[in-house]
Amino acid sequence: MSTEHPLSRRRFAATASAGLALPVLAACGSGDSGSASDSSSSGSGAGGGAGATPGTVLTSTSDVEVGGAVFLEEPSVVITQPAKGEFKAFSRTCTHQKCPVTDIVDGKIHCSCHGSLFDMTTGDNVGGPAPSPLAEVSITVEGDNITLA
Ligand code: FES
Repeated sequence: MSTEHPLSRRRFAATASAGLALPVLAACGSGDSGSASDSSSSGSGAGGGAGATPGTVLTSTSDVEVGGAVFLEEPSVVITQPAKGEFKAFSRTCTHQKCPVTDIVDGKIHCSCHGSLFDMTTGDNVGGPAPSPLAEVSITVEGDNITLA
């Protein structure tokens, strides 16, 4: 008899495995690109500044409490002040299932969809199901203004 069945089954398994891996890679690639160079212009917003123009004033330093954050919708960015005079910004797109992070819980950026927590200084995922850090957004602090870099 023929012995093609094991080979066919094996080939199918490899194909199915690749099919499963692809969406995972796509999800990772769109959510945790880290600090990209200047070449991003009109992206979909998951990677950082959400396509806003550099120089755009995001908020005022006085609006961000020490140990707190301001959550913007356009661009979808969270600005934190982990220590007095130290400002950080990250994409609000949670790396789990892309809900926007919404608030601060126990000094950490919180996603209310499934409870992921992120360090407000580094964006690192420190709790919940999120697989990777929030994407950092480059900012500049000039006087009282926090702007996109
Ligand atoms: S989408 Fe943020 S924890 Fe699930």
